Order: sequence, then structure tokens, then C-alpha cells
Amino acid sequence: MSKQLSQAEAKERIKKLTDEINSLRFRYHVLDDPSVTDEIYDSLTQELLYLEAKYPQFRLPNSPTQRIGGVVLEKFEKMKHEARMLSLTDAFNNQDMLEWETRIKKLVPAEKFEYFCEVKFDGLAISLRYKKSVLAVAVTRGDGLVGENVTENIKTIQSIPLSLPIAEDVEVRGETIMTKEVWKALNKQQEAEEKPLYANTRNAAAGSIRQLNPKITAARKLQFYAYDLVTDLGQTTHEEVHKKIKDFGFRITNYQKNCKNLEEVFEFYRHIEKHRDKLPFGIDGVVVSVNDLALFKRLGVVGKAPRGMIAFKFAPEQATTVVEDILVQVGRSGKLTPVAKLRPVFVSGTTVSRATLHNEDEIKRLGVRIGDTVVVQRAGDVIPDVVEVLPKLRTGKEKKFKMPDQCPVCNTPVERRVAGKEESVDVFCVNLVCPAKNLRAMEHFVTAFDIYTIGPKVLQRFKDEGLISSVVDLFYLKKEDIQSLERFGEKSAENIVNSIQSHTKVIFAKFIYALGITHVGEETAFDLSQRFGSIQKLMSATREEINAISNIGEVVAESVYQWFQNKANRTFIRDCIKAGVKIENIKIKATPLTGKSIVVTGTLEKLSREEAKEAIRQAGGDWVSSVSKNTDYVVVGENPGSKYDKAQKLGVKTIDEKEFLKLLGR
Ligand code: IVH
Repeated sequence: MSKQLSQAEAKERIKKLTDEINSLRFRYHVLDDPSVTDEIYDSLTQELLYLEAKYPQFRLPNSPTQRIGGVVLEKFEKMKHEARMLSLTDAFNNQDMLEWETRIKKLVPAEKFEYFCEVKFDGLAISLRYKKSVLAVAVTRGDGLVGENVTENIKTIQSIPLSLPIAEDVEVRGETIMTKEVWKALNKQQEAEEKPLYANTRNAAAGSIRQLNPKITAARKLQFYAYDLVTDLGQTTHEEVHKKIKDFGFRITNYQKNCKNLEEVFEFYRHIEKHRDKLPFGIDGVVVSVNDLALFKRLGVVGKAPRGMIAFKFAPEQATTVVEDILVQVGRSGKLTPVAKLRPVFVSGTTVSRATLHNEDEIKRLGVRIGDTVVVQRAGDVIPDVVEVLPKLRTGKEKKFKMPDQCPVCNTPVERRVAGKEESVDVFCVNLVCPAKNLRAMEHFVTAFDIYTIGPKVLQRFKDEGLISSVVDLFYLKKEDIQSLERFGEKSAENIVNSIQSHTKVIFAKFIYALGITHVGEETAFDLSQRFGSIQKLMSATREEINAISNIGEVVAESVYQWFQNKANRTFIRDCIKAGVKIENIKIKATPLTGKSIVVTGTLEKLSREEAKEAIRQAGGDWVSSVSKNTDYVVVGENPGSKYDKAQKLGVKTIDEKEFLKLLGR
């Protein structure tokens, strides 16, 4: 920048820089496929900022510097929508959907209906108006007729183009969202600054758009997914709408499908619901539209919603209920966990009557008391959590809860230990022969062996009746032993014995896991099985040998080592084998992934996250969750996260799904 540019040169340079930065931005923020490093991007932007300051007359309306967010507003200006922003009618199950189809078919008979489906983003709807190619205004939905002008904030969203490759005035609509990853990081920061947390990604997105200072919005890393083109540019189907807005340079979701009939819609819905947790952003259902826009128009509007479109919602993941009591459970390790006994409530498709409160600190943090009305949340098939107390509904009769000083099962005084690196404290029953711990250990063993017929209640009963004192006894049970108990018929007794006897064979990793060694989850069990191949070898492993396994640290290695040194534990293993347990040993053979450390980011097409994990392990590789310079490969799926950027930065080799499958030998 030392040489003086002529006016014409400056103008040209500004234009070139603007175009280049915009195209780099598109690759980075829309395609998730950056072509240069952040340093290059920043450096070009710096030069552009400098030139624009010097020659403001040449600054272009779509200049990337316009995104930085200048003026702090006093309040948002109200703005009328040119075309009303409608909402959607909800459907909650297949029946609702069938009824919807019947209704619309009645209105427009003898027409063939095809449906366009796409995920329903859980964010904030925004309308974008482009005048003469340039983004002129961005408005929130508001009441559908009048919204708020949030243009300055919206301009900070990098995935929104500031200009379109089309001369007509155009209105595009879509959803502003925050990814789960960004939301978590934001909440961490809020917490550190002692500011209120955002309950979900939608609140976080909405809260970030409603900042009067656009610099704050810019820091929130919002994203925008377009889903509607209001302007008539000759499109005839919803599918075409999506193609057009994609060509304009917007990000659209790949989670969409053209369906010939409701059967296919249901299939799409089930598929999305199943993978919902793995999506990088929050969704609350599937939007289903009559694909043909002429038909869609003919169907018209009822109330505030178009008839030709419906929100096929997922079962709500949150609900409110009352904490009837707080109980304390003793886990396998002796850890005491407070559990809220709830007034039964329907959440996420099932009735929930218990929720974990984790520990004493969590109870303090939530401020939950017995009798409180609370919000419970269930994500996937995880145990529900209490996420919030509604203190305004208190009557004054609520009771505070105190963690007991004794084990509620064996009355042994408890011990308090700091939980991991956290400041929080866990409470343990230290009685080695605490019956609760013993029972939990048995439950764990039986689950690891996939013996589904025996749940905690049956185990407790067998124990109380003196049929078993250790899980080994299960393998000796006869039909007659069980049948003689009250409420066990011949059939159920037979089922139980059969299911035990048909599950005596286990793979080595499962057997290690079943032992319930402190710190040994399925991953570590697998690593141990791969390294030692047989229980005999593992039993005679040295501390150093165990410690040398790449994923196993000192604390875990010590725990494993000590467990196998314990005489009672060694006897237990021999007793299992004597009772008929057959452990399948591992032959250690090399594959292209043996000993390789692999990170997967984004969604893969052919494999779920779990499947990919399992496949890597089976091929002898290490599945790791974060990228470091020791990572050998980063497998990049759809919508990859920051791990991809990190891989780029560290120069770690990235491969796509195809290459990954090849390495797996598939
Ligand atoms: S289409 C009639 N597609 O859902 C307006 N809307 O409940 C429908 N939404 O206000 C526009 N994801 O904010 C459409 N893929 C999607 C959507 C979507 C989320 C929101 C939108 C609308 C609300 C209606």
C-alpha cells in the first residue's frame, strides 16, 4: 500500500477486493468449504477497509466491510411487510396429517398432490428485501403484518449475501439460527460473565438479533437458512424455489425431500426425528408443503396459515410438572444421586416420572425444592433433566432438600469427593459390600450381557428370595427355582433361563465392560480388548502396559490394574468361566486404520455417528472427539463444524466419506 494509487486504480482495486472477499466468504460461510486461511481473508479485508476509508466514494453497497456493524440503535424501527408473513398450522401425528390431506383434497379434488418436505428450523423468521440487487431491509416477523427493522444486525450474518446476481427487486425469507455448538459456547461465556443463560438455540438466536448494538450480534456467529422466495420469478414448485434461492447464493438445508405421497412424508419425518440430535442446529419438526405452487395458491389461506402447508411437529422435548419428592439413589460406584420424583408428564413421546438432579450442586444451582413446579427436558433417549424451576408458582409449602450424611441403603456414613476437575462435589457410600452397590453392579453386568429379560426389579427379587448373591448364580438358575416364586409362571421362568443361557457367549470387550471397573466405559473396554486380546493376558498386564494404550491415562490405567490385582475380582472371573461364560478372544490384525487417530465432523450419508465410531474401532483405529496435531484423519461429512476449520489450520489430512469408506474396506 505504499505506492500511491490513481483514482481509477483505487476504484478497480476496491471492486476486485470486494468481489474476491465476497466469493471467499461464500465458500467459507455458505459452502462450508474455505479455500484460504483466515489470515489471508483478514488481510484482504484490512486492505479493503483502508482503501474505503481513503476513497469512500468508491465503496460498494455489497462491500463486506458493511457487515461489521456501525451504528448502535436506540430502538428498532417498526416496518410493514410488503406481503404478510404467515404462520403454520401444527400436526403432531400421522392421523393429523391424513386429516390435513383429506381436507385439502376435498377443496381441490382430482388433483395429484406431491409434497415438498424440509426440516422446520427452530429459530427466528426474517424477511430480506433486495432492491436493485442490494440488500435493502431485513425485517422480523413481528405479528405478520408489521415487524422490526433489523437490517444492520442481519448484515453481520456472513451466510447472507449483501447483493444478488439478479436485477429485479426480490424478497427472500428464511430462518436465522444459532448452531448448538455456538449456543453452548455462548452460554459458557454468559456464565463466566455472570449474565443470564439462553434456555435454547432459538432464544439465543432471537436474543442475538434483538441487540441494539450490531457488534454484539456480529460476535454471535448466527447463520441463515433461506426457505422461501416471495417474488414471482416464474417458479412453479417449492422445489424450484429452493433451487433458485440456492443459486442466489443462500445457504439452504440438505435436509429436504420431494415426496410422492404421505407414506414418503412419514418416512422422511421418521428419518429426521431419528437423526435430530445429530443435526448441528435445533429443529422442531418438518414443514410439509404442496409442491405445485399453482395448487398451493388455489388452496389459499385459513386464518393466518396457508392451507397447502403444515408444520409436522416432533413431540415436545420440554414440559412442566411438579416435583413430588426428591429421592436418593446409590449407583454402582457408590455415588449418591438425587432423583426428582415427578408428577407423570408426557415429554418427547413418553411419560416421564423421574428426572436426575445429578448432585447437590445442581440442586443448589437450580434452587429446586420438593413441591416446586419445574421444566423437564428430554433429548433423544437420555434420562430427563430438570432444567428450570418456576418460582412464581410456589405456595410457600415447598421443602428444601438436604443430601443425606448416610447411605440411604446401608446407613454407612458418606464421603464427599471433588468430581473430576469440576468444583462440584459428589457424595459416595464407601461400604464395599453395600447391597445397593452390589445390585447396581449386577444390573450393569446383565445389561452388558444383553440379558433383557432381567431388569432391576427381577434382580432385586431374586436377591431378596436368596436365589442369587452374585451374578454368577444367575448362570446356575433352573426353571424350577424361579417358577416356585410367587408371580412367576412357568413361561416367564423358562424365558428368563433361556435368555440367560443364550447369552453366555460375549465378545471380549463386552465382558471387560460388564465387570464395571471404575472409569472403564465401553470405549476403554474396547481399547483394552484390542490391546490384550484375551482375559488371561489382561489379568497379567502390568501397569505400564495398560498405561501405554493411547487413549488410556494414568488414573484409568491404575484403576484397571488395581481391579485385576484384587483377589476377589480374579476369583469372580474364574467363577464366571466355570459357570459357562465364553469370552470370544480377539485376533489382532492390521488394517489401513490400525493405530490411526480419527475425528469425524458433520453428518455422514452412509453411517450414523455411532456406526462410524464402531467401524473405526473395528478397524483398529482410535475414534477421537477433538482435532489435534496428533490426529491422522478428519472425516468431513455434511455441515461440518469447527473441527474442520481446526484441521485446516493444523494441516491435518481431511478425507470425505467416500475415502473414509474405502479405508474401512467397504
Ligand atoms: S416455510 C407460512 N419452511 O415456521 C410460513 N417455515 O410456524 C412458512 N419455519 O414463521 C414458511 N423452518 O419461521 C418454512 N423450512 C421452513 C421453516 C419454516 C422454520 C418457521 C417460519 C414460520 C414458522 C411457522
